[in-house]
Amino acid sequence: AEPLKIALAGLGTVGTGVVRLIETNADLIARRAGRPIRITAVSARDRSKDRGVDLSPYAWEDDPVAMAARGDVDVVVELVGGSDGPALALARGAFKHGKGLVTANKAMIAHHGLELAASAEQTSVPLKFEAAVAGGIPVIKGLSEGAAANAIDRVYGILNGTCNYILSTMEDTGADFGDVLAEAQRLGYAEADPTFDIEGIDAAHKLAILASIAFGARLRFDAVETMGISRVKAADIEQARALGYVIRLIGTAEIDRGEGVPRLLQRVRPHLVPFDHPLAHVDGATNAVVAEGNFMGRLLFQGAGAGDGPTASAVVADIIDIARGEKGAAFSMPAGDLEAMEPAPTGHR
Ligand code: NAP
Ligand code: HSE
Repeated sequence: AEPLKIALAGLGTVGTGVVRLIETNADLIARRAGRPIRITAVSARDRSKDRGVDLSPYAWEDDPVAMAARGDVDVVVELVGGSDGPALALARGAFKHGKGLVTANKAMIAHHGLELAASAEQTSVPLKFEAAVAGGIPVIKGLSEGAAANAIDRVYGILNGTCNYILSTMEDTGADFGDVLAEAQRLGYAEADPTFDIEGIDAAHKLAILASIAFGARLRFDAVETMGISRVKAADIEQARALGYVIRLIGTAEIDRGEGVPRLLQRVRPHLVPFDHPLAHVDGATNAVVAEGNFMGRLLFQGAGAGDGPTASAVVADIIDIARGEKGAAFSMPAGDLEAMEPAPTGHR
């Protein structure tokens, strides 16, 4: 069968993980996808860097955006990061040239997801971003497909691996916040700018994406009330423990059915979680998402939320879906009564 030809932009933690996964599991992936997946071109800033993977079989582009126009590319895989800049230019370029797009970039999807989904639909090419939320956990597929028949009233969970790693390690070892953050960076969990992690912005990006999928509401990152963990002290963690709690950064999206039209409320903030709650036992860079539906009841998705292997696994799952012929965007575009469920801006940031 004809191979699916992909271009990889970004060869950091996730990009090199994708190269390793596609090489290691090539036969298994070809069988499941119905055809081989072939990397044809790669791009990053520094051509001379040793990345621990052999890149010699692939064409090199200094400018990631140039990959969208290449004749030997069917699907662009964007793993550069950043809400705008080269990532957004590459995404727009992909649709302009009729190529599908796979991305792990929650910042870009949270800010520009509606525009990109509309372009993907107009040009009948796929836009996939499973790795953008909760790393290796197939939560976008789970909510958009597995929970499709349900009215969902609430989605909440631990959406940032770096914060969870910091909080649970400080709790277990009494280590210093800065030292544990440095370790999370070394392990490849943190964003290029870790402020996005510790100030709750990364979790807010993911929550806005999840909420738009769970509720069919318009993607509104600007409406997420956001507070991070940068002011949580070792003494807070000790005091919480003495009272029977752990501290976790939790994102919650829920429908407020109070007076008037229903409103979608979205917030990210540190919570006291009692020892007997399942989220209290989610440690390290693990993520966990709970979704409550009117027929399925409560679903709990749990697994590695960051790091090269789990994130690459979600990226390659999206590539396999495209190889099998999937088109369109994972978003439900806002329609009919769902317009009433737009998030309520709170002005916190
Ligand atoms: P990373 O390790 O910092 O890698 C970024 C890559 O992009 C590097 O190879 C870098 O090139 C390249 N790059 C950056 N700016 C560029 C530019 N202006 N032009 C060309 N190339 C550029 O980041 P990462 O952790 O792999 O994350 C990539 C994306 O996945 C981000 O959107 C992130 O939010 C998302 N994500 C990450 C994880 C995770 O656990 N790390 C999980 C889920 C999603 P050089 O190597 O030459 O500097
Ligand atoms: N920086 C992110 C985190 C990567 O720590 O959760 C996964 O999206």
